[in-house]
Amino acid sequence: MINQKLRPRRMRINKAIRSMVRETSLSPKDFVYPIFVVPGENVKEEIPSMPNCYHLSVDKAVELAEEIYELGIPSVEVFGLPEYKDEIGSSAWDMNSPVQRAIKAIKEAVPELIIVGDVCLCQYTSHGHCGKLCDHYVDNDETLKLLQKVAVSQAKAGADIIAPSDMMDGRVAAIREALDENGFINVSIMSYTIKYASGYYGPFRDAANSAPQFGDRRAYQMDPANDREAMKELELDLEEGADIIMVKPALAYLDIVRKVRDRVNHPVAVYNVSGEYAMVKAAAEKGWIDEKRIVLETLTSMKRAGADIIITYHAMDAARWLQED
Ligand code: PBG
Ligand code: ZN
Repeated sequence: MINQKLRPRRMRINKAIRSMVRETSLSPKDFVYPIFVVPGENVKEEIPSMPNCYHLSVDKAVELAEEIYELGIPSVEVFGLPEYKDEIGSSAWDMNSPVQRAIKAIKEAVPELIIVGDVCLCQYTSHGHCGKLCDHYVDNDETLKLLQKVAVSQAKAGADIIAPSDMMDGRVAAIREALDENGFINVSIMSYTIKYASGYYGPFRDAANSAPQFGDRRAYQMDPANDREAMKELELDLEEGADIIMVKPALAYLDIVRKVRDRVNHPVAVYNVSGEYAMVKAAAEKGWIDEKRIVLETLTSMKRAGADIIITYHAMDAARWLQED
């Protein structure tokens, strides 16, 4: 016999009750908005594979940063397209490059906005790999020295958080050491701890002009099939002193997010990447899905899985939608 007294539907009977018992909440405060800065002035060009995301010159990036802050979003992550590329990616630590200038200008204009600097070399190397090459292999320990320079240059420009996305071994410890030696003891590290070699980065590589010119990134980014290996990366980053642990991509890896959340007391971030964004935008453009509903549901699932911080290209739209409700 069914027990007629047990009726979970009582807790769903109307909007007010549902809201009282809701377990997960989403807020603009959860978001980090990624921006792409480019050389020049007065540039605001839409990125074809990422509708409603733009290549921005520093002046336009500052304008957008003000808007982002007004929407209640606490943070931006800055990516850049440099003026020049070479074998070792030296424009990545050039204080006159768009990223360093943007960080400085945004910090001056909106001091309370938390600035995350993405530390990697793929946007800056002529070959598009995330480090210095030795033949066709990315040399781990030589790359660490360059990543230290990038991190310090971004901290000098005014970054609050350094986010290494290269997946070299030992880079969190190396960057921590370089930051401390240069007096940046309060600049924190949000590590791309668990970053998979993912097809979901496609639109970003168009946007950042950072696709590898030969081969792929599987010799440094993780195999999407692996879970225990993710826990190994997690242990190392904790030992090396990461302040925030990131899992990337988000949606296809929420099982990993949950595991990380259950294991550590550090803040956990997810990166809702360009391919995840582009799929939603494309289906919405075709009228096949309700964009607002899908985006809010998806971002809520990331929080439910255990993320405290969501890096997402949907941040500005989502912040507006959350104000409507
Ligand atoms: C650079 C970097 C990538 C992303 C963030 N930093 C691309 C890559 O590793 O190829 C992906 C972000 C996205 O797809 O939105 N290492
Ligand atoms: Zn890279």
